[in-house]
Amino acid sequence: MQIQSRKPVAAVSAEPPYHFFIISSNSMHTEQISLPATPTNDYDHDPHRRTFLRQTAGIVISGTALAAILAACESTTVSSTGIQATLDINAQAALQTVGNSISQTFGQNNGGRAVILIRSTTTDFIALSSVCTHEQCTVSKPQTAGGNIICSCHGAIFSPKDGSVLGGPAPSSLQRFQTAYDATTKVLTITF
Ligand code: FES
Repeated sequence: MQIQSRKPVAAVSAEPPYHFFIISSNSMHTEQISLPATPTNDYDHDPHRRTFLRQTAGIVISGTALAAILAACESTTVSSTGIQATLDINAQAALQTVGNSISQTFGQNNGGRAVILIRSTTTDFIALSSVCTHEQCTVSKPQTAGGNIICSCHGAIFSPKDGSVLGGPAPSSLQRFQTAYDATTKVLTITF
């Protein structure tokens, strides 16, 4: 087993069988490695394995904390059902300023729940579902330009940049929808 070439980040079990989550120095992916449930004399005297266990000692973590680590590592999902809706940005005073946001429904798209639209640049917008990934409460749009997205139910915090989890119990990012902005007509198209 070539575990000595990777950097261990967390041991999730203190007793055999051992399970380790590893982040490679060059790929940032996670993987699980299980060591033998019954240590052998070779296991006890293998210097690489002893070093590995010493490095992971003291960072035994709970399943909840591990879920938070994995959520932070995952990329934001961009949904696409092919259904499109448009919004005239000319009619949205708040969206004339970069960093500002609105919460808006688009018929039955997104299950009839609101979409948070954030003007990220003069020519681009971010569209995120307002449905919290913890227990489906409705999250609030950022209260200030550039502010985080908060779920008041249990305190989940999401990034306004991509909907990724910054804190709290949410297991995954807010669902993100594709956007296309026509700077000439100032019409934003959202693909659900
Ligand atoms: S439903 Fe959003 S944090 Fe629980």
